[in-house]
Amino acid sequence: MKVYNFSPGPAKLDTSIISKSQEAMFNFQNTGLSILEIGHRSKEFEKLMNSLQENIRNIFNVPTNYFTLFLQGGATFQNTFIANNFDIREKDLGCLVTGTWGKNTFDDFSKIRETKLIELSQDEIENFVENSDDFKNVDYLHLTSNETINGVQLREFNKINHDSLLIDMSSDIGSYTFEWDNIAYIYAGAQKNMGIPGVSICIGDEKHLNSEGNSKYLNIGQLVEKKSLLNTPPTFSIYVLKLVTDWMIEMGGIEYFEEKSVSQSSRVYKQLESYKNFLNLPVCDYSKSRSNIIFKFKDNDLEKKFLHEAGEKGILGLNGHRSEGGIRISLYNSITDEMVDYLSEFIEQFFTNNGR
Ligand SMILES: Cc1ncc(COP(=O)(O)O)c(C=O)c1O
Repeated sequence: MKVYNFSPGPAKLDTSIISKSQEAMFNFQNTGLSILEIGHRSKEFEKLMNSLQENIRNIFNVPTNYFTLFLQGGATFQNTFIANNFDIREKDLGCLVTGTWGKNTFDDFSKIRETKLIELSQDEIENFVENSDDFKNVDYLHLTSNETINGVQLREFNKINHDSLLIDMSSDIGSYTFEWDNIAYIYAGAQKNMGIPGVSICIGDEKHLNSEGNSKYLNIGQLVEKKSLLNTPPTFSIYVLKLVTDWMIEMGGIEYFEEKSVSQSSRVYKQLESYKNFLNLPVCDYSKSRSNIIFKFKDNDLEKKFLHEAGEKGILGLNGHRSEGGIRISLYNSITDEMVDYLSEFIEQFFTNNGR
């Protein structure tokens, strides 16, 4: 049976990336070696790292005074990494929390240094963005652009009146354009829009590179100086990330993915809203995520039936996070219009058969 993978991550990859990875498993760039065996100090891997850097700079329009890093430890490691860098121990640190992942970051930051908490419900975010003067006194402000579990997104961070934002973009990186003017650092685990687990993409302003005295893997200055090759990097995850960046450029860059993300998400939201009698869609228009659409059925049994029948039709990954329940439809960059058509037909059929 053909499957339609709407998982929240690790997520669907374009099939071209899987085919290329398969070839490289046996013979990476005619070396006779598998990508799994390639040395991270080899000239082939050095070339791969250089083109990856170049692709990332092109895709995200990275200013020349910003560094790029590819690290292990997932987005979770970044909580410890950030709190030990950027001179943060000497400065005021704030966390703008709009959901579960931001709260996790706040909890980790707080174990390392005092952190101010600004917690907003999904319907308070718009007002905060418009009137964010209160927080400009914090030296660094962390936020999570897309709360994967709660389906809440804050894309207009360039409107926030703060000049040093630290942003967890794990679940929406590469799905819309933004300016770097007030951004000190962004990071994202690759496993949603940009590849597979094992590598995080980090991009930051060089003026924050001061980490003397930190142990090796917490030392952002050394990691940048060694071009992410301070120790053995996750070579295969980096290889897949490079393939994804090639594919993104080929498809038309972020502009292409932004247009697709707007059109697919608005289509799904519109359809779900037409079944409002059966569903609760908890997030207000301003904060609605284009990457993770969440909702609950008013009738629990009907929800179970929906998930069961979706599974029978090969539609996978629709369960909400275990902490929230409900349904979550993840519309990452690799989701095709054909997949959305299929999902949408299923939804229509389901409600036709179940009381509408
Ligand atoms: C927004 C966000 N931040 C952080 C994480 C944690 O990522 P990791 O498992 O790579 O540590 C996730 C995981 O889904 C996420 O969606």
